[in-house]
Amino acid sequence: MDCYVMTLFPDMIMSGLLTSITGRAIEEGIINLKAVNIRDYTNSKHGKTDDYPYGGGAGMVMQAQPVYDCYKAVEAELGYKPRVVYLTPQGRVFNQEMAKEFSVEKGIVFLCGHYEGIDERVLEEIVTDNISIGDYVLTGGELPAMCMIDAISRMIPGVLHNNESAEGDSLSDGLLEYPQYSRPEVWNGRRVPPILISGDHAKVDAWRREQSLIRTAERRPDLLEKAAVSPKEREFIRKYLAKSSDV
Ligand code: ADE
Repeated sequence: MDCYVMTLFPDMIMSGLLTSITGRAIEEGIINLKAVNIRDYTNSKHGKTDDYPYGGGAGMVMQAQPVYDCYKAVEAELGYKPRVVYLTPQGRVFNQEMAKEFSVEKGIVFLCGHYEGIDERVLEEIVTDNISIGDYVLTGGELPAMCMIDAISRMIPGVLHNNESAEGDSLSDGLLEYPQYSRPEVWNGRRVPPILISGDHAKVDAWRREQSLIRTAERRPDLLEKAAVSPKEREFIRKYLAKSSDV
C-alpha cells in the first residue's frame, strides 16, 4: 500500500513509523511510506507556507498553493487518484471498522495541518475524507496520521506475522479482548486463573468469551449495542451485571 504523508514535519512521521511492526512492514515492502515536505513546494522565496487569516483572528493559516502543488506532485508520482485524508478534529471519528476498510486501498494520502488550519479552498479541491482520531485537539495532524497508518497497516495481510495475529484483538468482533497472563503462575501472590492451565481448550475459549463480554459491559457498554452478541450472551451479561450491583 502506498502511504504518502504531506506534512511540514516529515522527520516526525518517519521516526515514528520506521520502528517496530510498521518499520518491518516498510522494510518488507508491504507498505510504501513516504513523508513529503509541503515546504518543498512553496513558491515563496523565504520558504513561507502560512499567512494571516482573512477576517482577522489569532494564528496563521496554511496557504493553498504549497499544499496543492505538493498534492499534484504526489498524484503524478503515484499515477492514480488516491483517497486523500485530512486529519482534523472536525472529521468522522476513526475506529477499527474504518481501519479495516482503508486497509484494502491501493494507496492513501494523508494531509497534516498545523497552525489554525489550511485554506478551505484547497481542502475542497483535494480532500476525499475528513477524519478525527478523537474529541480533543492536537497541535497538528502528524500524530493522528501515524495512528491511522499504524491501525490500517496491521489489517493488511502479511504485516502481522503468525504470532501477532489480529484475530481476537480488542474490537475485532466489536468487543474488548479478554485478559492475558504469562509466566510465572503466581506473581505477587496473585494466581493465574486456573482454567487457563487446565489444558481444556474448549473451556479456555468459553472463559475468554465470557471475560470479553464482562469487560465490554463494564468498561465500554456503548460497544455492546453493535457487537455480535447472541441473545444467550446478552442474558449472561444481564445476570452478571445484576449480581455485581448486588454487592
Ligand atoms: N488535528 C488536531 N487534532 C486532531 C484530532 N483530534 N484528530 C485528527 N486531527 C487532528
